[in-house]
Amino acid sequence: SWTTTSIVDEQVEAIRERVGGKRAICGLSGGVDSAVAAALVNKAIGSQLTCVYVDHGLMRKGETEQVEKDFVAATGAQLRIVDASERFLDALAGVSDPEQKRKIIGREFIRVFEQAQAELVAEADEAGEDVAFLVQGTLYPDVVESGGGTGTANIKSHHNVGGLPEDIEFELIEPLRKLFKDEVRMVGQEVGLPDNIVQRQPFPGPGLGIRIVGEVTRERLDILREADAIAREELTAAGLDRDIWQCPVVLLADVRSVGVQGDGRTYGHPIVLRPVSSEDAMTADWSRLPYDVLARISTRITNEVSEVNRVTLDITSKPPGTIEWE
Ligand code: XMP
Repeated sequence: SWTTTSIVDEQVEAIRERVGGKRAICGLSGGVDSAVAAALVNKAIGSQLTCVYVDHGLMRKGETEQVEKDFVAATGAQLRIVDASERFLDALAGVSDPEQKRKIIGREFIRVFEQAQAELVAEADEAGEDVAFLVQGTLYPDVVESGGGTGTANIKSHHNVGGLPEDIEFELIEPLRKLFKDEVRMVGQEVGLPDNIVQRQPFPGPGLGIRIVGEVTRERLDILREADAIAREELTAAGLDRDIWQCPVVLLADVRSVGVQGDGRTYGHPIVLRPVSSEDAMTADWSRLPYDVLARISTRITNEVSEVNRVTLDITSKPPGTIEWE
């Protein structure tokens, strides 16, 4: 629309002027906000921007590739991917407590990002250039939220991956600071990002790390990733993506139940489907998904993921249940 075009033009102009000949860094989380902020800044300063994506190994199937291929194809932005999955798994070994997991993931994320940042600064230095700016996908509601008040949704510590390292030495560029989510999506579209990035449903920063009830291991992540991919595929095929707010798929890794699969008795894990509808994630209701869609998801998961022998549906509203299980 006309307003979106003018927001983009204004920002591009302002960013160019502010950055001048210096360089900027932007952390990509795989989410909408950081992708749109990065695309906008890239439109303004192109190769003076380097995007950094920390792969913590807790993403869903295909998500890192989406950043690697789709984002880069759409924007032409310079991207550095840091594969840190080993490090995150090591740090999470033996940990089952949800808050502990969040703290560890948040801490490791900041360390890895700072290290990448330091490397970029050193390289620029050598080339006689100056990295002076850090791009953040802060939205208007984030600005308001951090200005005071503890919403009911903040009972859990939300260590947003992509958060600010503490000893910040950069000036911030926050091109989405005055925008709401729907406006950010329009800006994203305007700067050429594909629908699978712009229309992405909310997904927690700590990723699948807080969707495995119990310790996070590589094997468990692989099981959950397969089950989650099937659920997402079927929901998309049924045209339900816009009707639901999000649908966490949760692995109850410490629970086993008896089943019969193939030629024998199994002792596998349950998967929980948690489809919800919501306006702002502060409150939510469980989505009344069509039975045939649920049946397809259940059949496919138990057929295709051998470690899972039961699929259950969470029919709790928020409150009292939160959207995520951890
Ligand atoms: P809950 O589970 O509190 O979730 O009802 C509300 C919304 O927040 C998301 N969520 C998180 N997002 N880091 C995030 O960036 C987190 O640690 C986190 N925990 C929950 C959740 O997916 C839902 O959209």
